[in-house]
Amino acid sequence: MKCLLITVAFVALFCPSESVIKCYDCIPGPSLCKTEKNCSSEYDSCIWVSLGEQRESYNCWKYSQCDGKNIEKHFNTGTFTFRCCKSDLCNSSPLTMAGSMISLSIASFLTTLLLI
Ligand SMILES: *[C@@H]1O[C@H](CO)[C@@H](O)[C@H](O)[C@H]1NC(C)=O
Repeated sequence: MKCLLITVAFVALFCPSESVIKCYDCIPGPSLCKTEKNCSSEYDSCIWVSLGEQRESYNCWKYSQCDGKNIEKHFNTGTFTFRCCKSDLCNSSPLTMAGSMISLSIASFLTTLLLI
């Protein structure tokens, strides 16, 4: 049994699936993003950016470039919040969660930013 577990862990570590990451992909706009896209292999994460005034952008992103400077340059904006993540369709908007979840998710979102 132990051997099996080790094998499973080994396969998970060294045999990543060939599929690329899938992200929501939308230009900034007020509507909920439902467009999915398979990222090209150079991208290893998804990004969600809020540009204020209900404008949110969704894209594939390089995790190594998930920092304020690169994002500011790419979106040509000074005020934004962002989130990068590394699983399929993980960049859905944290702002669309209903009711009391909103303040909770924003709180944890800010905590995440502080920890990065
Ligand atoms: C992404 O790739 C999967 C598996 O290859 C495919 O089934 C799916 O249709 C693709 N999605 C898009 C939006 O291209």
